[in-house]
Amino acid sequence: MIDLCVLGPGGRMGQQVCDLAIASDSVRLASAVERKGAPAVGSVIASSSISIGDALPSGLSQAQVYIDFTSPAATAEAAHQAIAHKTAAVVGTTGLDSPCQKALDELSNVAPVFVAANFSPGVALLLHLAKTAAAALGSEYDLEVVEMHHRNKVDAPSGTALALGEALAEGRGLNLEAARESNRDGQVGPRRQGEIGMFAVRGGDIVGEHTAFLIGDEERIEIAHRAQKRSVFAAGALRAARWVVTQPPGRYSMSDLLGF
Ligand SMILES: NC(=O)c1ccc[n+]([C@@H]2O[C@H](COP(=O)([O-])OP(=O)(O)OC[C@H]3O[C@@H](n4cnc5c(N)ncnc54)[C@H](OP(=O)(O)O)[C@@H]3O)[C@@H](O)[C@H]2O)c1
Repeated sequence: MIDLCVLGPGGRMGQQVCDLAIASDSVRLASAVERKGAPAVGSVIASSSISIGDALPSGLSQAQVYIDFTSPAATAEAAHQAIAHKTAAVVGTTGLDSPCQKALDELSNVAPVFVAANFSPGVALLLHLAKTAAAALGSEYDLEVVEMHHRNKVDAPSGTALALGEALAEGRGLNLEAARESNRDGQVGPRRQGEIGMFAVRGGDIVGEHTAFLIGDEERIEIAHRAQKRSVFAAGALRAARWVVTQPPGRYSMSDLLGF
């Protein structure tokens, strides 16, 4: 049995992770930590005896691994605190900035750290297929990424869209930062050679949809993934938690877990 701490248990993803952990026979929900002052602090998670706390050190000290679907600031703070406890980390928060990546790197010197912008096995395959397609088809096929998410998503493009852009760029031998175009508005002129367009649609309760387009003069290929339920990400995060606690300190990703 693996003892788990869930960060952000009141959030959309945190709730899914708690529900699956409570139903699991290989993971035990040991603690759950929310932001100080959050309304959920002090409440008991349904079907468990776990009370939601706001003290990270105490929550982390009760667990072998924590799962984090929160915000970049909370992710950096948790990584700093986890160093003292050598707690393994599974991080699904997206929009991670460089201070956050630095904190995760520091934690990875003493504990295994698994980071994925998307925990669905289908998306891992999508990235693999996109890279292969971009390499196979060559520069006469223009590359674009479109993603769609629910109206409450706060970052754009999504972490998965950026990963998809990276996969296309790697396949084509491009640098994503230089190639990326997310702003077509007004007299933008013709498409640049080697550009990778990335666009975000927001609305309703869409869980997450990503499409890579490879567009030639006479044909178009679309490689798409549609998540139907958030539980696909929560199940992937729990699978990553079970696996990562068996690994030595270091950084890990879905390709390490799935072998793509
Ligand atoms: N990797 C994947 O497969 C995947 C899948 C889906 C989503 N995501 C990402 O996961 C993140 C969360 O998404 P979501 O839809 O679950 O968002 P959400 O519903 O807003 O949940 C975030 C939760 O984290 C809490 N939180 C904020 N600061 C905290 C802190 N310092 N300590 C503990 N908890 C804290 C929030 O509390 P308050 O509301 O009180 O601030 C909230 O309960 C986003 O970055 C999203 O893009 C990743």
